[in-house]
Amino acid sequence: MKGKLTFSIAICFLLGLIFAGFLPGSQATAQNESECITCHRDESPGIVDQWLSSAMSGAGLDCATCHGANHMDENDVDEALIPTPDTCAPCHNAQVTQYREGKHALAWAAMEAMPAWSHLPMAVQSIDTYKSCSGCHKVGEKPAEIVEAQDLPYGTAACNSCHTRHAFSREEALQPQACLPCHQGFDHPQWEMWSTSKHGVIYDIDGGGDRAPTCQDCHLIDGTHTNITPWGFLGLRLPEEDEEWMADRAVILQGLGVLDDNGDPTARLDIVSGAKVARLTAEEFNTLRAGIVSVCEQCHSADYVAGQMQASDQILKEADDLMAEAILIIKELYNDGILELPEGYEFGPDLLQFFSTGSAIEQELFVMFLEYRNRTFMGAFHNNPDYMWWYGYAPMQESLQNIRDEAVALRSDGGAVGPQGPPGPTGPAGPAGEAASLWIIWVVAAAAAIALLVSLYVLMMRRKTS
Ligand code: HEC
Ligand code: HEC
Ligand code: HEC
Ligand code: HEC
Ligand code: HEC
Ligand code: HEC
Ligand code: HEC
Ligand code: HEC
Repeated sequence: MKGKLTFSIAICFLLGLIFAGFLPGSQATAQNESECITCHRDESPGIVDQWLSSAMSGAGLDCATCHGANHMDENDVDEALIPTPDTCAPCHNAQVTQYREGKHALAWAAMEAMPAWSHLPMAVQSIDTYKSCSGCHKVGEKPAEIVEAQDLPYGTAACNSCHTRHAFSREEALQPQACLPCHQGFDHPQWEMWSTSKHGVIYDIDGGGDRAPTCQDCHLIDGTHTNITPWGFLGLRLPEEDEEWMADRAVILQGLGVLDDNGDPTARLDIVSGAKVARLTAEEFNTLRAGIVSVCEQCHSADYVAGQMQASDQILKEADDLMAEAILIIKELYNDGILELPEGYEFGPDLLQFFSTGSAIEQELFVMFLEYRNRTFMGAFHNNPDYMWWYGYAPMQESLQNIRDEAVALRSDGGAVGPQGPPGPTGPAGPAGEAASLWIIWVVAAAAAIALLVSLYVLMMRRKTS
């Protein structure tokens, strides 16, 4: 193993020298620094310092290894290449291959598949400045045609998500803080849950050490770059042997638009399997579970761990029961014409619209699902009772009660309630007569506006690439 590693490092080293030697303008030698570095010492001294402190610089690599040598002065800056995982692959094939087998590589595609994403204003999407969803999801790989067109000048490297440029340090990536910028907050507070759990607190008290596990110990087992968990982000799996639980899960899958009214799969099932959103065989689930359990068993007894895992699974089952009731209450409002089914909605409530729904009751449902239900099961698995209960199951109960009350109020108001509020995917719809014709005008206006935006966007992109 060790021999193999030394061998591949030696090969990479040679490759590095070859790269450095053959690319003009980057004759890196011990005494004679490259032109890139000489000039960039003035242009961007921070980058040069960070790079010179890196292991790769020590191994003889230079700026041109990753950015090419077509750019040599301030007039041809556009010619500098911005790296992608393909840039690292010749020397780090193992890490790139592992990364591509896990979920991080899919992050960009998964984000773009969300209906909620496509409704966001371009400034909020910020696909090349990374201020919103894109800022975390750039850990995923962009489609080749976008990269080739250089439509996204930055944020294509992905690998610098955990070992940041230009230090590219293994040590840095091993710190749990490396995961913090993305794994925090609303729907996935793993940082908060771990750092305030017994594990995180021991780590804090000891100032590191190996008495308590870090994110990397449990999720990049033995240093692998393939990250994927049994239950995944949405706590869904198929098949399910427990019939009661399966009935609740079927309702959740309908709420996600993955199953239709009759319980048959829709086109969204392809997204779910393509983006590995859920484990779709028992074998896959069990293999992943065995991996994570083997980590726990380094410090806890097998019995203890089995009990913990079973307890967390059962908590997810209870959460799903509350969730299914809430979804069905709103589904009934659609069935009875109290809420009108917007264009493009198949089932009733559509959880993938996130906040772009037209009614407060559906926004409450979304929060109950993505914030509270996630915190319930994620808190259980990360051994954090505060998150599991006070930020999870307890507010789920509160939301469910709000939804019950709101449904009664809507019914006693009588007429159909059309989506209100900002022009979302739903569009405002009214009861009948005048309101209905207003609704048609709104839909036509919205369609025209979208068509205009799309053509403007296409025009802009053409200009950029030509
Ligand atoms: C004569 C000076 C000079 C030399 C030599 C030089 N650069 Fe630059 N480089 C610049 C300037 C100026 C910029 C723009 C920086 C800025 O806007 O702050 C730049 C920008 C860059 C960028 C950023 C590109 C972008 O789109 O933001 C990269 C990457 C880069 N240089 C890499 C290199 C590499 C690799 C070499 C050697 C092959 C090199 N540079 C040689 C002056 C130089
Ligand atoms: C031409 C070959 C080559 C390319 C291309 C290359 N690397 Fe490296 N990399 C190396 C070598 C050689 C080492 C080993 C340095 C050492 O251990 O002394 C290394 C080490 C590393 C390390 C471990 C550093 C440490 O602290 O031990 C990281 C992380 C890394 N590279 C990331 C990247 C990323 C990310 C890319 C692409 C953006 C990349 N490398 C591109 C050759 C390369
Ligand atoms: C730049 C942001 C970013 C950083 C940094 C980051 N992640 Fe992620 N991670 C994501 C995104 C986005 C996803 C969802 C990808 C998808 O499923 O499409 C994800 C998914 C995951 C998953 C898969 C969960 C599942 O659905 O099975 C695990 C496990 C994970 N990350 C662990 C880590 C660990 C551990 C670290 C730190 C060593 C880390 N991540 C660093 C953004 C990040
Ligand atoms: C703060 C960083 C961050 C932001 C902002 C963010 N995400 Fe994520 N997203 C993540 C992480 C981390 C995960 C994985 C969490 C987990 O598995 O628990 C994730 C998971 C997902 C998944 C699930 C992927 C899967 O296969 O399971 C989708 C889809 C998604 N995000 C879409 C979006 C959209 C759309 C937005 C904006 C409206 C957004 N995200 C905003 C970090 C972020
Ligand atoms: C191992 C690969 C690698 C090497 C070698 C490398 N860079 Fe980079 N560089 C990157 C990555 C990765 C990015 C971020 C790309 C992205 O936005 O996704 C980057 C981005 C940049 C940027 C633009 C972003 C910013 O922060 O301003 C500049 C400028 C730059 N590099 C200059 C340099 C210079 C100068 C050197 C040599 C001292 C160098 N790079 C060596 C990988 C490398
Ligand atoms: C989710 C965070 C994360 C991302 C994203 C990530 N790495 Fe790493 N990387 C790590 C961690 C953690 C380690 C240390 C693993 C260990 O040794 O236990 C590491 C180690 C490495 C090493 C050193 C391996 C060794 O044995 O010395 C290289 C090289 C490397 N990564 C390259 C890459 C490349 C290339 C990419 C992009 C495909 C990438 N990494 C993306 C977290 C990450
Ligand atoms: C003691 C081991 C352990 C540690 C430490 C740990 N996790 Fe987890 N993590 C788990 C388990 C167990 C699951 C659920 C596995 C399953 O689905 O059966 C999980 C699930 C996840 C998921 C998928 C969604 C979810 O939360 O259920 C992500 C993403 C994740 N962890 C990221 C992190 C990050 C980031 C850290 C550090 C801040 C971290 N984990 C620390 C054990 C750990
Ligand atoms: C590197 C060692 C290590 C690993 C790996 C580890 N733990 Fe722990 N864990 C500890 C230590 C030490 C404590 C503190 C025990 C105490 O409170 O006396 C602890 C505490 C706990 C607690 C809280 C116990 C209590 O009495 O409050 C739970 C639950 C737990 N771990 C579950 C797990 C699970 C599940 C895994 C795997 C996903 C895991 N641990 C992995 C070391 C570890």
